[in-house]
Amino acid sequence: MADVNNNNKAEEAGPEPQSLFDELTNPLNLTLILLIVFLMYKILKSRQPVHTASPPEPQLPKLRRDFTVEELKKYDGTQEDGRVLVAVNGSVYDMTKGKRFYGPGGPYAAFGGKDASRGLATFNVSASTEGYDDLSDLNTEQMDSIREWEAQFKEKYDLVGRLLKPGEQATNYSDEEDEANTSVDKSKDD
Ligand code: HEM
Repeated sequence: MADVNNNNKAEEAGPEPQSLFDELTNPLNLTLILLIVFLMYKILKSRQPVHTASPPEPQLPKLRRDFTVEELKKYDGTQEDGRVLVAVNGSVYDMTKGKRFYGPGGPYAAFGGKDASRGLATFNVSASTEGYDDLSDLNTEQMDSIREWEAQFKEKYDLVGRLLKPGEQATNYSDEEDEANTSVDKSKDD
């Protein structure tokens, strides 16, 4: 009787436990691991934005000038050169690089050639006023949001100039350029 009990115990214990390495290199598990890695690669690859493959926008000559709301309007990407300018928080940025967003057919096309401040503050792409918008009815949170957007644009796009209030004079930036050129010439002489 005692012998039978001992045999049963030995059977219950089963084969020696395998090491983790043996487990992982077992052909079935190895195949499953490879399949998981392959599927994860496919998922990550499919999440890459499609537009990364789109050709880069042609480089246009740099603009440096101020704009009235009226003057800004034509820079919505529909002109031959495709330039897109967008104003935010009183500054005008050249967003041609982001034409897929702000150009014709883009999700934020309503901002092209416009002051996007109100739309960005209220998270409403089509929020804009006719004529100059002094944004005076916006609250602190909305104005902070505009400043945050502007900080992002500053990183990514070229500043062109200021959005002029009615009656405001445009700055003559050629003086600025002359000064920059003179200082470059001076440093060459040093
Ligand atoms: C369902 C709602 C929305 C979704 C899913 C969405 C999605 C996105 C995504 C994925 C980007 C990044 C694109 C990239 O860098 O490749 C982006 C950028 C942006 N979104 Fe939206 N968005 C939404 C609503 C809005 C709204 C309501 C506004 C403003 C009114 C807005 C303004 C912007 C702006 C200004 C950019 C930056 C584009 C740039 O880099 O110049 N979005 N959005």
